[in-house]
Amino acid sequence: MLLSAEQIAARVREMGAEIDHDYPDGNLHLVCILKGACFFLADLARALHRDAYVDFMGISSYGKGKSTSGEVKVTKDLDISVEGADLLIVEDIVDSGVTLNYLVHLLEQRKPRSVRIAALLDKPERRQRPVKVAYTGFQIPDEFVVGYGLDFAEHYRNLRDVCILGND
Ligand code: IMP
Ligand code: MG
Repeated sequence: MLLSAEQIAARVREMGAEIDHDYPDGNLHLVCILKGACFFLADLARALHRDAYVDFMGISSYGKGKSTSGEVKVTKDLDISVEGADLLIVEDIVDSGVTLNYLVHLLEQRKPRSVRIAALLDKPERRQRPVKVAYTGFQIPDEFVVGYGLDFAEHYRNLRDVCILGND
């Protein structure tokens, strides 16, 4: 186990307070990146004491391990227009940064008022593309982790804790 459910809950409450403080007005849209971030989104949204839209985006990265083209495919787009809105992208983990680097550029073209990122986990050692993360839950070492939304081949998402996946 790397992070217990209790540690995660406490940190998500702190992040909610920070976000509340930073966005005193405006239309805040929480943009959840499916599927990994959905547990984090559910807790973070309820840690806020302000109104916020919740919307979902499906993303798949091309050729991970094969190429670093940075090409990303949108498999499900947002439902709600983002023009003039404050977008907070809610992601489970920032790894190479390819996905979020692409996504920030894509969403900025739609004329939101602002775009920021909230990521539960960050592996800074793995970065290949620059990504500015406004709200980070935990910086973690370069280990493959599962639980609290994070999967290995679609398994282990519903673990309450974040755990390092063993080799066997
Ligand atoms: P990036 O484009 O390399 O930053 O990709 C980030 C995505 O890779 C995340 O949204 C996760 O879906 C996946 N990912 C990266 N590291 C892990 C991990 O340790 N466990 C599970 N998924 C991971
Ligand atoms: Mg993901």
